[in-house]
Amino acid sequence: MKIVKTIAEVRAEVKQWKKQGLTVGLVPTMGFLHEGHQSLIERAVKENDRVVVSDFVNPTQFGPNEDLASYPRDLERDAKLCEGAGAAILFNPEPEEMYYANKTTSVHMEGLTTELCGKSRPIHFDGVCSVVSKLFNIVTPDRAYFGQKDAQQLAVIKRMVRDLNFDIEIVGCPIIREADGLAKSSRNTYLSEAERKAAVILSQSLKVGRELIENGEKDAAKVKAAMIAKLETESLARIDYVEVVDAENIVLVDTITENTLIAMAVYIGNTRLIDNTIIEA
Ligand code: PAJ
Repeated sequence: MKIVKTIAEVRAEVKQWKKQGLTVGLVPTMGFLHEGHQSLIERAVKENDRVVVSDFVNPTQFGPNEDLASYPRDLERDAKLCEGAGAAILFNPEPEEMYYANKTTSVHMEGLTTELCGKSRPIHFDGVCSVVSKLFNIVTPDRAYFGQKDAQQLAVIKRMVRDLNFDIEIVGCPIIREADGLAKSSRNTYLSEAERKAAVILSQSLKVGRELIENGEKDAAKVKAAMIAKLETESLARIDYVEVVDAENIVLVDTITENTLIAMAVYIGNTRLIDNTIIEA
């Protein structure tokens, strides 16, 4: 596996692969890789001849008071994980390589970003859409892999690809969790021991919601209330949002049907964690 720092070098490699008729998968990440990322890379390796993993903490998707500076980084460990999973290239550009200092263009997403994380992180999804568009143009993959962990991001990327006619298949992959149910996340490293224990409340609250729905509850307000009540039993938890939305359009719904997304963002101490579940039937 090669660690590549420049756009030109990625393009040259991909060009060679395409000349040989090989298919290319892309897994965009911000690094500090864990088993969640690994599951995406392994799936991409299964479904494509060559896989590029991008490892770039994208400054344009962080708000002014967010964790850009403290976001965890470990390129050496990331490289080992990518190599073990079978990636061909780990693309790790510096911010100056990705962004011109006087850039004036970005991708703006409307509609799917008014709820959930879009509400509390107003510039976030434009930053994600812009960097992912750039990665799509640099790597020109046949398929790109995204986790259901970031359900709103997955919906946003699918919509962007449709609206802007990217000729790329977007593959959504299931959430990988710790044994106690906590969704794996690079940000879990911020948690103290007590906070780590408390963080299990997110998946437990989702379970309360799922069980109610399995027993026939269709009223979104009732499901939401029960989930909030569960979260409130944990003194270290502070709710950012708990919402019930349509999984494709990310608009609030009153009644639970198939393809309903139940999503939450919860602060455990100072760390903001997200989790979700999709109701499929
Ligand atoms: P990052 O948070 O590093 O996540 C990279 C990819 O890994 C995303 O598609 C995310 O949904 C997926 N992922 C993270 N945790 C997961 C888990 N526990 N199970 C399954 N998949 C998981 O998301 C981003 O980076 C950035 O916004 C990015 C798309 C790279 C644009 O900068």
